[in-house]
Amino acid sequence: MRASKTLCLGCLLFLIGILRCKAWAQYTFVVEETPYKRLCSTKNILTVNGQFPGPTLYVHKGDTIIVDVYNKAKYNITIHWHGVKQPRYPWSDGPEYITQCPIQSGAKFSQKVMFSTEEGTSWWHAHNDWSRATVHGAIVIYPKKDSSYPFPKPDAEVPIIFGEWWKKPIMEVYHEMLIIGGDPNVSDAYTINGQPGDLYPCSMQGVWFMHCHIERHMTWGMDTAFIVRNGVPLNTHLLSPPPDMPPC
Ligand SMILES: *[C@@H]1O[C@H](CO)[C@@H](O)[C@H](O)[C@H]1NC(C)=O
Ligand SMILES: *[C@@H]1O[C@H](CO)[C@@H](O)[C@H](O)[C@H]1NC(C)=O
Repeated sequence: MRASKTLCLGCLLFLIGILRCKAWAQYTFVVEETPYKRLCSTKNILTVNGQFPGPTLYVHKGDTIIVDVYNKAKYNITIHWHGVKQPRYPWSDGPEYITQCPIQSGAKFSQKVMFSTEEGTSWWHAHNDWSRATVHGAIVIYPKKDSSYPFPKPDAEVPIIFGEWWKKPIMEVYHEMLIIGGDPNVSDAYTINGQPGDLYPCSMQGVWFMHCHIERHMTWGMDTAFIVRNGVPLNTHLLSPPPDMPPC
């Protein structure tokens, strides 16, 4: 009797253990076209859940989360978790045709994101063509639960996201750049949290400051190739890809 009670308690603890391990926070990202009005004209832009910039993810150091990405766009898409190391698990890291094939139009892919050593503010963004111009958002990584900030805890936090707005469809600007082989046309406005600020026409009311932000890693020649080999010891071996890995 005593033995079976102990056994049952063991089972219960084991089950609780499994449930606790499986309790990863789950998020839904629906990538879809949404009309947005900026600089006095409206155009459809690619968004996550209809938001520009996209939703902010709030996590803790050491968390693993699942992001279910539904691609309702006309284009292939990938989502990259910028600055998140994803140890031994590159399958949901995002760069198309590098760590994974893109999520095709109409398809869904559950991306597992592991926050191991990161702490602070980072961002996620689309990692194919120029969809990242509108498909991006912040990731706020708090210290591990029950541990404190390395500075006095702030009373409030406001992520500030710098971006650019083109009146033309973003893919048109991108394809024109590919055809001429030069720099892309400069944007029509810089944005802060998706708003161009008071100095532009038809902008949201309020006080905004401006900041020059041009990101052209590739056109400035900042690219390189490196070879990554799978490790021999078990703890450096890649884990297997998820069953819903996008096919090519
Ligand atoms: C780029 O700029 C040129 C010169 O102003 C203009 O003729 C062209 O239509 C622009 N292209 C796009 C895609 O905005
Ligand atoms: C979308 O992805 C599929 C699979 O990788 C590929 O065959 C196709 O060419 C891609 N489409 C575009 C427009 O890049």
